[in-house]
Amino acid sequence: MTGFPDRLGRVRAKVDRILAGLLPETGRAERRLFDAMRYAALGPGKRLRPFLVVASADLFGVEERFALRCGAAVELVHCYSLVHDDLPAMDDDDLRRGRPTVHAAWDEATAILAGDALLTLAFEVLADAETHPSPTVRLRLVGGLARAAGAEGMCGGQMLDMLAERTEFEYGEIARLERMKTGALIAFCCRAGALLGGAAADAERALTAYAQDLGFAFQIADDLIDADGSEEEAGKRLRKDAGQGKATVVSLLGIEAARARAKILSEQAAAHLDCFGTRADPLRDAARFAVERSS
Ligand code: IPE
Ligand code: IPE
Ligand code: MG
Ligand code: MG
Ligand code: MG
Repeated sequence: MTGFPDRLGRVRAKVDRILAGLLPETGRAERRLFDAMRYAALGPGKRLRPFLVVASADLFGVEERFALRCGAAVELVHCYSLVHDDLPAMDDDDLRRGRPTVHAAWDEATAILAGDALLTLAFEVLADAETHPSPTVRLRLVGGLARAAGAEGMCGGQMLDMLAERTEFEYGEIARLERMKTGALIAFCCRAGALLGGAAADAERALTAYAQDLGFAFQIADDLIDADGSEEEAGKRLRKDAGQGKATVVSLLGIEAARARAKILSEQAAAHLDCFGTRADPLRDAARFAVERSS
């Protein structure tokens, strides 16, 4: 996987610059909201989702500045989801990315509003002509992100995740939950690359299939980190899922079988990329990274 950390780091630096530009400091009376938004969005995240947009778009020769703006929009949605996921009403966490969560550093109302504002800013970014010259492409991106983030995707998955604390779920139900809460946004990243590049339907299908398996593998890896990882490396509180009695692939299959399942899914994800040849190597590396990571 030589080169992957560097490649991810380069995308991270560029996306961080775009996010900082989208979230300027302000002296206005409502600066508390902007401060909390900046804190949530500019924190030290991996930026894997923007990387997936950039690497997918690159398959179709898309100008990187368009893919980066689109990746920044997805990252804004992801950051909002973390702020709300950490709220007392949800996972009730006080540590994220190695720092106090937004509601711990400010208060719950500020965290709710900062999340709301990050989410809506994402759509403002996608709708802006700087993201792509074609209004049709922008409209497809807006519609695609809305669907991935909403009740059919991430929010629906988060609802199931809450129910998973007090319902016996079978494997298929947990798979659906994890594919919705995490897989849908990750799948959108790759689909966005195809949309930006005006890809043919079969290429878009292959990328979406890759990303769906990757997204599920990524969430199993997150559950494994929760069960078996180091809090210091992860930068968040661990052993939470078992503590909350949450049904996950790990609680159902056990650590070793869950690890094996994540690896198979990651290999399956990579197998969907055959039609792109070696140009898809960065995406193959991302699939390995998704399950081998410790944070
Ligand atoms: C954490 O996502 C939440 C999940 C959807 C599993 P990441 O592991 O991508 O978190 P950051 O962005 O790197 O902090
Ligand atoms: C979060 O899943 C998924 C989201 C959509 C935010 P988790 O609740 O397992 O994520 P962490 O472990 O808090 O990062
Ligand atoms: Mg959660
Ligand atoms: Mg959580
Ligand atoms: Mg987790």
